[in-house]
Amino acid sequence: MTLPGLLIDVGYIAASILFILGIKMLSKPDTARRGNLVSAAGMLIAVVITLFSGGLSFHWIIAGLIIGSLIGAVSARLVKMTAMPEMVALFNGFGGIASLLVGWAEYHARPDLPTFTAVAVFLAVLIGGVAFSGSMIAFAKLAEKISGKPVLYRGQQIVNALIVLGLIAAGAIWMNDPAGEYGNLIFIGIVLLSLILGVLGVIPIGGGDMPVVISLLNSYSGLAACAAGFIILNNVLIVSGALVGASGFILTNIMCKAMNRSLANVLFSGFGSAAPSGGGRAVQGEARPVSAEDAYYILEAAGSVAIVPGYGMAVAQAQHAVRELGEILEKNGAEVRYVIHPVAGRMPGHMNVLLAEANVPYDQLAEMDDVNPIINTVDVCLVIGANDVVNPDARENPDSPIYGMPIINVDFSKTTIVMKRSLNVGFAGIENPLFFKENTRMLFGDAKASLSALIAEFKES
Ligand code: TAP
Repeated sequence: MTLPGLLIDVGYIAASILFILGIKMLSKPDTARRGNLVSAAGMLIAVVITLFSGGLSFHWIIAGLIIGSLIGAVSARLVKMTAMPEMVALFNGFGGIASLLVGWAEYHARPDLPTFTAVAVFLAVLIGGVAFSGSMIAFAKLAEKISGKPVLYRGQQIVNALIVLGLIAAGAIWMNDPAGEYGNLIFIGIVLLSLILGVLGVIPIGGGDMPVVISLLNSYSGLAACAAGFIILNNVLIVSGALVGASGFILTNIMCKAMNRSLANVLFSGFGSAAPSGGGRAVQGEARPVSAEDAYYILEAAGSVAIVPGYGMAVAQAQHAVRELGEILEKNGAEVRYVIHPVAGRMPGHMNVLLAEANVPYDQLAEMDDVNPIINTVDVCLVIGANDVVNPDARENPDSPIYGMPIINVDFSKTTIVMKRSLNVGFAGIENPLFFKENTRMLFGDAKASLSALIAEFKES
């Protein structure tokens, strides 16, 4: 059965509308799940319409469907929540290589490409190749298959610039005459150079900056898909590719802003290669350790508590214990809020995802910008495995590498209890004067163990 052209177009428009609505709904925690479903419904419509638009060999599609579904289902079950960023890196990489292969197949099928299609093939191969190999390096760094440290060498940016120039020159020659005598050879050169550029572009970036890079590579994989859409003249692929390209870029920007760094700084500075430092200022004073029992007395007397989670909560998998303590505090009469920093953890929405998994009510989630102005009225800020996102140096110390990054001003609350295992630094590798402030108490230990101890104290009382 082949669908008439009008029905295909209407179906594609409906799918595109559902994608846009879905993305919009993803921007709020309470509509995010439905947004995912709405987008998935759009994708289902797009796939069904494409299948019946004619000219497809179903046996290949069914084979791909079975193999892909099996791999997808198994890996979705096996992947840990903390390994989501590397999973996303793999997805982006596969998206990139798919677009590259679409371009390659089109060139293979008809080497005498019209200029418009040749341009689209070149872009799909170039961007798809960079997205694929770059994502594989990002995956390997995050999964610690290779060192997460930035790999820097002299003349690195010149080498990269030369590769880009080589790609532009080779692309111009190839697009001018893809069916020419050396067309095949130049094309393979473009594929190889694109793959090399992806590797060389990502190795200078530190493992901790990978989430930003993954978001950028996600944007690239969308743009490559968009180019692939122009190759096979499929409207819904063009629209969805453009949506992924744009939203990935917007997300990259949001992350950079929240870290107060430019994209160029993330991509080229080799952040994380320098030895950890205090950021030009020795931290003064003494930390005041507190036992779970003493922390219990402080919390028991609190009328308002702001819970500030960070990467350590994800490491300790303490989200369920956090929710349990939150409920106990509420029953005890305290007003409880969860304040989430935009770059807490290691991926966008990391804390939101974990707290949602633990069924923390959405209406208790608060934005940093809403809580900061009234944080001096909060009795206790409970910092759970967060470090950089509550470092007052970002506000006060112009020499600090994170100076200017917006933080949650927990040190302005009446008392701050920090749960972490030691005085060790966080992602930015810098000391945190918060731990030495008069009104800060350090509850040392694994966050989950400390929370369980606190919960036990409440239950025993
Ligand atoms: P970090 O500053 O990285 O600090 C996390 C802290 O958690 C560490 O100091 C560690 O201290 C503690 N910790 C680790 N395991 C723990 C456990 N089992 N129990 C208790 N504590 C534990 O985290 P943050 O405050 O969430 O800040 C995030 C950082 O990552 C920012 O610098 C941000 O710019 C960066 N970053 C974020 C993203 C996104 S999109 N979220 C992307 C790239 C970079 P101990 O070792 O002493 O326990």
